[in-house]
Amino acid sequence: MSQTPSHRWWPEHWTGYELLDAGDGARLERWGDYVLDRPDPAVIWPPSADVSAWNEADARFEPTAKTKGFWHQNGRQLPASWGLEYRSPRLHLQFKLELTGFKHVGLFPEQAVNWEYIAEHIGPDDTFLNLFAYTGGASLAARAAGAEVTHVDSIRQVVDWTRENMERSGLDGIRWVVEDALKFAEREVRRGNRYRGIVLDPPTWGLGTKGAKWRLEDQIRPLCETVADLVEPGGFIIMNTYSGISPTALEQLWRATLPDATIESGELCLRTVRGELVPTGSLVRVLNTQ
Ligand SMILES: C[S@@+](CC[C@H](N)C(=O)[O-])C[C@H]1O[C@@H](n2cnc3c(N)ncnc32)[C@H](O)[C@@H]1O
Repeated sequence: MSQTPSHRWWPEHWTGYELLDAGDGARLERWGDYVLDRPDPAVIWPPSADVSAWNEADARFEPTAKTKGFWHQNGRQLPASWGLEYRSPRLHLQFKLELTGFKHVGLFPEQAVNWEYIAEHIGPDDTFLNLFAYTGGASLAARAAGAEVTHVDSIRQVVDWTRENMERSGLDGIRWVVEDALKFAEREVRRGNRYRGIVLDPPTWGLGTKGAKWRLEDQIRPLCETVADLVEPGGFIIMNTYSGISPTALEQLWRATLPDATIESGELCLRTVRGELVPTGSLVRVLNTQ
């Protein structure tokens, strides 16, 4: 029997954020001063913490449809938005958080694994591209390391949110692009532009600026082929997805796309305060591209 190592990565530097517990299809998380209880279908095991810890959450997300719902607040009124700090030996970033109707608060804390990787592997005057960039943790990490950063997301309000995160973090100079990520990437290939580092986190359903929808399974190959044409020789690509595509499948796709690259894949996780791992998505790193 032969085996290749399967990775599990989780962030290690959070102080403002803590995963207090996970169980029965939910996460109990501290986001700065506030504790939230929200659904996570990956959590199929029972909780470890006492039920009283869960009952003390400041707000609990009640789903009303597959991706929508509302927050039920438990006594203490939460502010419309509040701040969260990420501080590690390499990075000092600030984020604005808000309770959204999609169970999210404006940040995927496991992404700190990618921020650290980016900050370590990119430097001043390198070019960096963040596709499907959301509230921009990866863009901030690359900019903090001195890179020329292009941030692409098709939703203007999300880009405005990132601009606020950039300013809170004491950074500037990020290039904003509100556009369909694949269309932008194809245009960049035609223009002959190349990037030292590229991160992409495509959702299950892509949404263009004019509301046009595409399914990831239909776009994933053109997306990877285009990104492969955009990366500099010796550069890196980080792809992760929360769409249920396995790390092995992602790795195979990249092996077929860039056969000479060094590729590692695994699960992006969060770790509870007791040390239990909670899987959040699949991650692949494509390194030393030719
Ligand atoms: C899963 S989130 C990415 C999370 C991100 N990795 C992070 O660390 O915060 C997906 C993002 O893709 C954006 N998006 C959806 N369809 C898009 C498209 N066709 N082109 C560009 N961005 C798109 C959404 O607005 C959303 O911000």
